Amino acid sequence: MRAFLIAFFAAYANLTTAMVSPEVSAKTYGFVGTGTMSSAIVRGLATLERPPAVILISPRNAAKAAALAAAFPGLVTVAADNQAVVDGCEVVMIGVLPTIAEETCRALRFKPSQTVISLVSTAPLEGLRVWCAGVPSESVVRAIPLPPVSKHEGATILTPPHELAVAVFSALGTAVPVATEETMKKMMPVTGLMGQFYAMQRATQTWVQAQGVPAEDAARYVGAVFHCITYDTAEAGAETFDHLVKEQTVGGINEQVVRELTEAGAYDALSDSLDAILARVEGRPAPRKLKRPYQATDEA
Ligand SMILES: NC(=O)c1ccc[n+]([C@@H]2O[C@H](COP(=O)([O-])OP(=O)(O)OC[C@H]3O[C@@H](n4cnc5c(N)ncnc54)[C@H](OP(=O)(O)O)[C@@H]3O)[C@@H](O)[C@H]2O)c1
Repeated sequence: MRAFLIAFFAAYANLTTAMVSPEVSAKTYGFVGTGTMSSAIVRGLATLERPPAVILISPRNAAKAAALAAAFPGLVTVAADNQAVVDGCEVVMIGVLPTIAEETCRALRFKPSQTVISLVSTAPLEGLRVWCAGVPSESVVRAIPLPPVSKHEGATILTPPHELAVAVFSALGTAVPVATEETMKKMMPVTGLMGQFYAMQRATQTWVQAQGVPAEDAARYVGAVFHCITYDTAEAGAETFDHLVKEQTVGGINEQVVRELTEAGAYDALSDSLDAILARVEGRPAPRKLKRPYQATDEA
């Protein structure tokens, strides 16, 4: 019964996230900086059931811009330069690297009717509002998406909770709008957990192979199991994770692993790493931690 209910609610959640606000399709979009992140958003927008009619991209990077225009003819157009992008759209996404964000924005002339969504992970709202002069403060938004937006499976934090920006990133996966930049900063360390997740998968694959299982089978199964077990948490509520951990059978193999990793300090180490990343995000020294490396004892 529980499995059925989870499958039902997961399907319902997918259905609801797949519903795209008509406002998203009705707008025109422009991208200043056509790199990894902009390309992912362009691909996501262009493959919506009802894509927007106009997506303008800037000519750099030339290869990426050409590939997008070729993939979506008649929909994605490479503009002559950054100003031509801004002149031709209602929603401008800034997708350049942090080091040139200020000079790039300051060189452009914006209109008061425009919305600017900055993808630049470190550019503060206060600066963006000055650099994008002419755009009302409330129409300047910071968003931190992840590349799976290209497949409508993204996870994007954004602030302020601008209605159109929330609708755009909800169409491209899950959008988590937050009220302030302070809150956004505190959530940013979570994106730093991607590498350790893959490292855990790699360690698991290595262990399975060490048992004599062919590498292809080990990798395929590990990838599928991790994908499958995170499925239930894609639309998590406040109690979801706690509930799922507590639901593991007492004395069962899942409870055993949680207990052993807790004893080994794995979750304390995770929390310590998040503390250290937040310190980096906030530009202050990392808190000093007393590291006690885990050592297995092999008692017969
Ligand atoms: N990648 C991610 O997963 C991710 C996630 C969250 C946030 N972000 C943020 O998104 C922004 C872009 O990151 P990215 O990974 O997409 O970087 P990227 O792939 O290096 O893209 C940056 C693009 O900007 C172009 N560019 C350079 N100078 C320009 C100029 N004056 N005018 C217009 N375009 C110019 C570059 O072209 P050339 O190659 O010709 O120099 C390149 O195509 C960053 O600020 C980053 O913090 C990225």
